Amino acid sequence: MTATLALEDLRLGFYGVEVLRGVSLQIAAGSLTGLIGPNGAGKSTLFNAVTGLYRPTGGSIRFDGADVTGATPDRLVRAGLVRTFQLARGFPKLSVFQHLMLYGRSQPGEGLVAGILGSRAAREREEVLGERALAIARRLRLDHVLDNPVVALSGGQKKLVEIGRALMTEPRLILLDEPMAGVNPTLAEEIAGHLMGLHADGITICLIEHDMGLIRRLCDPVIVLAEGRRLVQGSFEEVVADGRVQEAYLGRRQ
Ligand SMILES: Nc1ncnc2c1ncn2[C@@H]1O[C@H](COP(=O)(O)OP(=O)(O)O)[C@@H](O)[C@H]1O
Ligand SMILES: [Mg+2]
Repeated sequence: MTATLALEDLRLGFYGVEVLRGVSLQIAAGSLTGLIGPNGAGKSTLFNAVTGLYRPTGGSIRFDGADVTGATPDRLVRAGLVRTFQLARGFPKLSVFQHLMLYGRSQPGEGLVAGILGSRAAREREEVLGERALAIARRLRLDHVLDNPVVALSGGQKKLVEIGRALMTEPRLILLDEPMAGVNPTLAEEIAGHLMGLHADGITICLIEHDMGLIRRLCDPVIVLAEGRRLVQGSFEEVVADGRVQEAYLGRRQ
């Protein structure tokens, strides 16, 4: 297996409480890997640690073979590693198009190139970015709301903008934190379709999702995180049949 992402004994604590307690796992290149586990298991924290929002207190992160432990989010995005957030973030007053352009502009050396080469190069770059934003909006079926402020969109459309924002950075690995949570079933299905399309395009995906039906249909393998550690990894059928996984979920419900 070629690993796109390889974590070794990754640790992270808040105020002395260890939330990630030595996570070791690999995400295979080209896979659509599911990341599941009870509430509070540390899934979102793991994404935060991997994408440079939190600095790990121990262990290592390798992306495409390079050690990126402690790298800034910026550097990771440039390397091709991007995440989406559980709640769409950003600048709600900007239009969908402006929003996508903004994230495209934070690409490698954007400001620098414009500054050195002058306005013509900058204009050409803007055109390329604009076309990319349009293509992404079409792909995500956001083209009819391109000029609407993000704040006026439905919850589901905001989730699509969040995916579009990630795509503007031309990622090779996308970490998606519950991209279907709280959206209606039709849109959840549409988002599932987009994820399958990105997967077919060769983008590696790691998906946190609570809906086991979606995980079963979309993801192979599935990794179960519990109490800050990787509990098991396998096909959906394997992990749900595992007694340790059932125990981890039941234990939390009491
Ligand atoms: N910024 C933070 N400060 C303190 N504790 C945090 C912070 N972020 C997460 N935690 C704690 O880490 C644990 C794991 O949270 P989280 O990663 O959000 O779990 P999951 O996404 O699996 O539901 C929880 O106990 C949570 O309260
Ligand atoms: Mg979470």
